[in-house]
Amino acid sequence: ARHLLGIEPLSPPEIVSLLDLAETYVAFNRRTVKHSDALEGLTQINMFFEPSTRTQSSFELAGKRLGADVMNMAMAQSSLTKGETLIDTALTLNAMRPDLLVVRHQDSGAVNLLASKVDCAVINAGDGRHEHPTQALLDALTIRRAKGRLQRLTIAICGDIAHSRVARSNLILLGKMENRLRLVGPATLMPAGAADLGCEVYEDMREGLAGADVVMMLRLQKERMDGGFIPSAREYFHRWGLDAEKLACAKPDAIVMHPGPMNRGVEIDGTIADDINRSVIQDQVEMGVAVRMAAMDLLARNLRAERGARAAEES
Ligand code: CP
Repeated sequence: ARHLLGIEPLSPPEIVSLLDLAETYVAFNRRTVKHSDALEGLTQINMFFEPSTRTQSSFELAGKRLGADVMNMAMAQSSLTKGETLIDTALTLNAMRPDLLVVRHQDSGAVNLLASKVDCAVINAGDGRHEHPTQALLDALTIRRAKGRLQRLTIAICGDIAHSRVARSNLILLGKMENRLRLVGPATLMPAGAADLGCEVYEDMREGLAGADVVMMLRLQKERMDGGFIPSAREYFHRWGLDAEKLACAKPDAIVMHPGPMNRGVEIDGTIADDINRSVIQDQVEMGVAVRMAAMDLLARNLRAERGARAAEES
């Protein structure tokens, strides 16, 4: 494929082969010298219309470690502030002949629209409530490394599911890999039709976590709540925050995940987040660089093959 816009179009073998390539980059990133020429001569532009710490920095590092010329667009200082549209911005950058665009946008579907207007490869770095494919892939790699497999696991995704692109991409990916999926959280933060998604739905944390192999916590995404119900932090933590007592309902070797950014004392107790025997949150960050390197490596190979075939046709 030319782009990576979501998990939906990926088959299980494609997911496994991307994770296998990412595994080689985990070892590569642990070396003292981290330089490859996989993206040599290619230009990568990162366009983040929403704030990011993990995704933007890991895409930048990933591109640099693979030898690309990487440019980070400062979107807040761009001509968007003067009324230029997303599409005109994308067409302007496209005319500078980049090879890879990495895009995060607050609107669901914006990255797909942008991808239809440009000539280069586009990676979705998170669009609205829609998808965050590289997050789901890095979560899958983290689970596979911690549990030794990516199938037949009981995985509880907890918290604000309704507004979460992370939950959506993970549900698609982990469902394709035949896991038992549970959604746990307040009814007001469940997506419409949650029960039809092939998941078990729980409002009670202890019931939802019972026997789970993986506990994935999510932040309350207030920026996407459109003035709807926002529980107080104190009440939320009491009922849905992950603490030692609730975690004890999961399997004794259950791992704790969080995509970040994390609000300690709201959806997760700080001591659980920092417990290196249970929490794989820092592993998720490390896997993020490797997965993004693998994704860009594969897209660059496809792009080179496509251009080679076009050149052969024209000659
Ligand atoms: N998980 C995630 O997307 O984090 P950032 O918003 O910091 O990129």
